[in-house]
Amino acid sequence: MSDNELPMTRRTHDLDAVRTLCVQAGLDMQDGPLEGVVVAYGTYIGDRLIGCATLQFADGSHFLEYVAVDASFRNRGIGAVLVAKIEEEARSRGMSELWAKARSPGFYERIGFRITSDDEPRPKSLDTCRDCPQFRKSCFPEIVVKRL
Ligand SMILES: CC(C)(COP(=O)(O)OP(=O)(O)OC[C@H]1O[C@@H](n2cnc3c(N)ncnc32)[C@H](O)[C@@H]1OP(=O)(O)O)[C@@H](O)C(=O)NCCC(=O)NCCS
Repeated sequence: MSDNELPMTRRTHDLDAVRTLCVQAGLDMQDGPLEGVVVAYGTYIGDRLIGCATLQFADGSHFLEYVAVDASFRNRGIGAVLVAKIEEEARSRGMSELWAKARSPGFYERIGFRITSDDEPRPKSLDTCRDCPQFRKSCFPEIVVKRL
């Protein structure tokens, strides 16, 4: 990779590209444009989106969603940087914790999140996995939280 191809992470408004990257990464996505995105970050090489993460708002709570890195660029710290950007956004909104549905719980544990148990109170908006066709077939999600 040459200097002018270094990945750059910044805010993005290109939610169509975010959606496309998430689909390519295997996430189960709703039809149509993304809804509930409060702020989105993208990692770019030139104008190509290779990573994304968003802060969402639904059913009265904020949470982390649409975290994906292009398969060719994984394990280089890009996902961790993207989540750190969303943590900063959450902190700046006065949030003291950040929740997520984790398709890759090991990744979240590496970056300081904790896997929660079913009997813990957690935002209602995260209880959507059971309706997903991938649930416990190709996806074994956990609900995770990090204190900010
Ligand atoms: C999960 C994903 C976003 C991680 O992105 P990434 O850029 O490869 O992650 P990073 O390189 O920043 O990894 C940070 C740390 O987590 C670890 N890690 C990454 N993916 C992991 C996984 N699936 N399981 C366990 N640990 C993982 C890395 O080894 C690294 O650890 P280190 O600090 O000891 O080096 C990426 O693999 C992906 O897009 N997967 C498919 C979509 C997906 O599952 N998204 C999550 C939706 S909930």
